[in-house]
Amino acid sequence: MNDWTDGYFTSSTYTYGYYRELNPVYQRFCLLARGFRPPEIGPGSAHCELGFGQGVSINIHAATSPGQYVGTDFNPSHAAQANEMATAAKSGGRFYDDSFEEMLDRSDLPQFDSISLHGIWSWISPENQGHVVEFARRFLKPGGVLYNSYNCFPGWAPASPMRELFVLYDKYAPSGAATFQRVEAALKFTERMLAAHPRYAESVPAVKDVFEKARQRDHDYLAHEYFNRDWICPYFTDVVEILQPAKLDFACTAFLMDFMDKLNLSQEAIDFLGTIENPVMREQARDYFVNRQFRKDYFVRGLRPLPAGERTQKLLETRYVLTTTEDISSSFKVMAGDAAFPDEIYQPVVEYLRSQDYAPKDFQDFGAVHPEVSPENVVKTLITLVSRNLVAPCQDVAAEKAAKPRCDALNAFFCERAKSAGEIPYLASPLTGGAVEIGPHEQLFLAVYRQKKRNAAALAQAVWDVFSRRGQKLVTPDRGKLETPEENIAELTKLAGDFLQKNLPVLKMTHIF
Ligand SMILES: C[S@@+](CC[C@H](N)C(=O)[O-])C[C@H]1O[C@@H](n2cnc3c(N)ncnc32)[C@H](O)[C@@H]1O
Repeated sequence: MNDWTDGYFTSSTYTYGYYRELNPVYQRFCLLARGFRPPEIGPGSAHCELGFGQGVSINIHAATSPGQYVGTDFNPSHAAQANEMATAAKSGGRFYDDSFEEMLDRSDLPQFDSISLHGIWSWISPENQGHVVEFARRFLKPGGVLYNSYNCFPGWAPASPMRELFVLYDKYAPSGAATFQRVEAALKFTERMLAAHPRYAESVPAVKDVFEKARQRDHDYLAHEYFNRDWICPYFTDVVEILQPAKLDFACTAFLMDFMDKLNLSQEAIDFLGTIENPVMREQARDYFVNRQFRKDYFVRGLRPLPAGERTQKLLETRYVLTTTEDISSSFKVMAGDAAFPDEIYQPVVEYLRSQDYAPKDFQDFGAVHPEVSPENVVKTLITLVSRNLVAPCQDVAAEKAAKPRCDALNAFFCERAKSAGEIPYLASPLTGGAVEIGPHEQLFLAVYRQKKRNAAALAQAVWDVFSRRGQKLVTPDRGKLETPEENIAELTKLAGDFLQKNLPVLKMTHIF
């Protein structure tokens, strides 16, 4: 009997995901962009993640950033996996299998600059939420950041009865212990019900679309998302109130595009929101305008606004790097539709980032070269580029240098793992403090490339040797499984060519290679 689970779905382990919102470098950028003073990152910093799942994010950050990393996830398989990565990286990360309640009693914890929880809050009981708040009250430094993400109303309003149906079916018509069967049975039941046109689906037409999207997700993901005993879908203001005993003030969301009202809201909406004085009420009302379904919030223990000049200066002093070599358009999609920046502002910033062979750079001297682009417009452009994941803010040179050996070791672990399981599709960048997403074949190519095999044919042959030792064959979307060695080597050569042309430059730009 799993009595440590507290109603949490533990029949399967969680997926291997990386989330940049937990990266202290990204957190600092968001707070600065919003005009608040962030905690300074340095060797004396300490960071904590509660409910780290497979521990990909926390391990990447423990390898890339200075300071201590501590985390917990009460699933011992998760904690074991996380510790295996920390040992490989020699990052010193300490990852426990304590429950949130048990963490409160630890006497070996530092005061943290950040406490982060991603994908936790909506899936734990009010009692466990209380333990999280108490943890922040005891262990977050004044000025420290709490990152919390959760499902929310009003965006979830149409689909929450559908989620309830999954759980009710699982409870009243159990279909065995295996995760796949349980999820599949509930999905099939719901599919049949929707086909029989219940009035619910007719009055909420969006539900069919939500169901179709859920149908396409991995069963393990769905199990954790929908099958927990607890599923709490709050309004933003509920969370603000619950966090008050830990003295936490709402700072901003981690969706950087939220900072660009003109790109996301109609003038009517901006005018309406402008009439609301209380910032919490304004943020709550904004959720109605964007019909928010999931929030990613930064709270600070003692919010300190930065004077405008200091904010701009700090953002211009920060180093940035492009994370793509592809063309970047000044027009892009936002929630409200299409948005466009004037080319004469956007493109000089992009070109500057491309200069000197994509080397990371700050924007302190940019004004001398491009006096026509104001510092405020540089900052706005950078915010949209980071939001679009085309640019990443970087950490300082000393932090990067110290992180490099840890990142190399963790990346070697990820690449080695691709030989057998291929489940962790990321590499850690000592420059950005974050991850670059990459497939298992590309991880294998990188491991071989490091051994000085540097053309597509040599990379393909070396990876084919790995495949044939373990009896693996490539499966392509159009031709299915490739049976002969010749077919496999030809396809691998094509993939290796893409790796050399597309992935490798990005790995070099982000100082992974
Ligand atoms: C939905 S997963 C999210 C994992 C990870 N943060 C991510 O986004 O990839 C939630 C995690 O929280 C852990 N968890 C749930 N309740 C917990 C508790 N009371 N104490 C410690 N860990 C808990 C689960 O084991 C699970 O790994």
